[in-house]
Amino acid sequence: MLLTGASSGIGKETAVELARGGAELTIVCRDAEKSARAREEIMRRSGSRSVHAMWADLERLREVRRLVAEFSASNPVLHVLVNNAGRDYPTYAETEDGLERTMALNYFSPFLLTNLLLPLLERGAPSRVVNVASVAHASGRLDLQDLNARGDMGTGGLAAYSRSKLALVLFTYELARRLAGKGVTANSLHPGAVRTRIWQHTGGFTPLTTLASLFMIGPKRGARTSIYLATSPEVEGVTGQYFYKCQRCHSSRVSQDPVLAGKLWERSRTITGLA
Ligand SMILES: NC(=O)c1ccc[n+]([C@@H]2O[C@H](COP(=O)([O-])OP(=O)(O)OC[C@H]3O[C@@H](n4cnc5c(N)ncnc54)[C@H](OP(=O)(O)O)[C@@H]3O)[C@@H](O)[C@H]2O)c1
Repeated sequence: MLLTGASSGIGKETAVELARGGAELTIVCRDAEKSARAREEIMRRSGSRSVHAMWADLERLREVRRLVAEFSASNPVLHVLVNNAGRDYPTYAETEDGLERTMALNYFSPFLLTNLLLPLLERGAPSRVVNVASVAHASGRLDLQDLNARGDMGTGGLAAYSRSKLALVLFTYELARRLAGKGVTANSLHPGAVRTRIWQHTGGFTPLTTLASLFMIGPKRGARTSIYLATSPEVEGVTGQYFYKCQRCHSSRVSQDPVLAGKLWERSRTITGLA
């Protein structure tokens, strides 16, 4: 199994449970030091000896490519890919690839990572792709001609975050359609409102977010749906669905538009250099 964003929050708790369940697990964190530290903690808490640490700054497409090259060199197959890493940048900035940062990390990175790992996932079938999206996708607006949407970051970057998660949900459905019959499933999920560091990025803990955090769930509970989709026999063969609290539910109407999903796929192939 391969899991991104294991250095904190939902990703770390997901990693502990996957390792405890006996998975041969590779975690991906932003840099080598963070990844080594996370690996140690995940092994200690899970009792597993089969956790491997890799690193990549997932905002950079060339880092995603390097990661896949290194992972593929020692892993001929992959059974589960959990695209968990994500965050919200409050202000506009572009990556070295000329992409708005939130879109780059939350959408283009998992798009490229998943596509490059497809041969391994197909070889490992039955296999699963699990994309950690968000209910925020429901307010996302997507203009295929302007995916950076410089003028539309929203308060605290929320518009960009919602857009990136809408793109991720659209991508998951399109991936499921394209993989039909190949033994690779693809599902996305909302983890709930989870007390993690992600809320600090939107401008720090304000009195409002501090108050809201009292009503949030902890990261262990927030990891449940990711773990369920990665491992449960109940979802063997289930694909092209959106989950919350380990239950299938409806994502927004726009996110289910197959024409938009197909066009986004083609734009994304061009943008990430896959075309
Ligand atoms: N918390 C919520 O209420 C909530 C709700 C809906 C969806 N989600 C989604 O859940 C996922 C996990 O978030 P979280 O809440 O657990 O937040 P978190 O504690 O901030 O974890 C985010 C993870 O992503 C990693 N990451 C960020 N930028 C990266 C980069 N450039 N390269 C590599 N790794 C990077 C972080 O690594 P560093 O430690 O290096 O920053 C961290 O491990 C995200 O996709 C988020 O959008 C969360």
